Amino acid sequence: MNLVLGVGGGIAAYKAAELARVLLERGHSVQVVMTSAAQQFVRPLTFAALTGRKVLTELFPRGSEETLASATEHIRVAQECELLAVAPATANLLARFAHGLADDLLTALYLAFSGPVVLAPAMNTHMWRHAATQRNVETLRQRGHVIVEPEEGPLACGMVGPGRLADPARIVEAIEAAAARRRDLEGECVLVTAGPTQEPLDPVRFISNRSSGKMGYALAEAALARGARVILISGPVQLAPPTGAELVRVQTATQMREAVLERLPEATIVIKAAAVADYYLAEVPRQKRKKSAARWSLELDPTPDILAEVGQLKGDRILVGFAAETENLVEEARRKLLAKNCDMLVANRVEDAFGADDNELTLVLRTGETIQLGRGSKRELADKILDRTLQLRLSLHAAR
Ligand code: PMT
Repeated sequence: MNLVLGVGGGIAAYKAAELARVLLERGHSVQVVMTSAAQQFVRPLTFAALTGRKVLTELFPRGSEETLASATEHIRVAQECELLAVAPATANLLARFAHGLADDLLTALYLAFSGPVVLAPAMNTHMWRHAATQRNVETLRQRGHVIVEPEEGPLACGMVGPGRLADPARIVEAIEAAAARRRDLEGECVLVTAGPTQEPLDPVRFISNRSSGKMGYALAEAALARGARVILISGPVQLAPPTGAELVRVQTATQMREAVLERLPEATIVIKAAAVADYYLAEVPRQKRKKSAARWSLELDPTPDILAEVGQLKGDRILVGFAAETENLVEEARRKLLAKNCDMLVANRVEDAFGADDNELTLVLRTGETIQLGRGSKRELADKILDRTLQLRLSLHAAR
């Protein structure tokens, strides 16, 4: 693999030399980019000697000809590389990545690069634990980047605690896993439903739920990053759609059903993360109901169960449903899995899941297996759901 190794300015910069050596040994081609602070700790010559390549250090190289090529080197490098790894990623670099500041070669390259990013932070314990750093790390996680957590131990500043650069072997493992994921959904068409539905009661009122769409949008984003074509059928949410997704906006369960059935023939994988309203008012009055002292009773009809209907039509598609439960999580998920003919059910607790950035998930598979995915950002969990979905798809192909 062709990768860029960004080296930030911390005492752990010397360990990046060992990381570069291991990456080269494993057959990867490594282009090192150093910040000016990194060069205070290690000389570019060390990396040049190891990699056999000129180390890139300047956004506008001094003494070079003033050509378009020299001014746009960060774009060329971003286009040529398959993965960007940064070790050590300092607090300052994490902040600049999180906020999109591009005032040197490494941060400009980061913005110009759209592939997988692996960040291995290293810094003083207080700096790592600071709310600002933790917020930046969370932003970067939400963006789908892999964070190789720093290790605990004695630090160069004399403190003992988290902040040591992870072992090179762990960083290499994370880099190779991120690279393997990269285009593994190429050729697949993933249909994702997301968000709530709104069922009108009159021209101004509706019944809905607290789904924000974050889980479904994270799945769409992760599938796109892994090379899939993505059809995102979304209820009303306040989120920007991921670039490249074919977005179909709907309001009601009936509209969501129509959109799903219309696009189903194109899909090879269907993931139903939407929180579809279970009841609706069949005859919606044309006029706004006037407020009065009288009680308002409504008779609601069940909405169409879209997942169950797709379960009947699924053919050799992989069908993944969700279950949001307040009790008996796994039992309920298994019941829904069988009733709706899904291949996998993603179970979450109502109190953890709705509206939050993080979630805790359990996968219930048709094979009888139950897998705890644990807690993480919805974007991280989206990749884990897709890992399992792809395994199901491959085993189905192998069985044919
Ligand atoms: O959007 P977020 O704020 O990120 O929150 C994420 C989430 C909680 C909405 C998501 O993780 C989740 O659990 N989605 C499913 C919620 C739900 O409606 O669960 P359910 O147990 O009621 O439905 C089971 C499955 O049937 C779901 O896949 C649902 O999409 C589907 N369904 C339900 C009713 C219906 N009429 N048609 C359906 O297709």
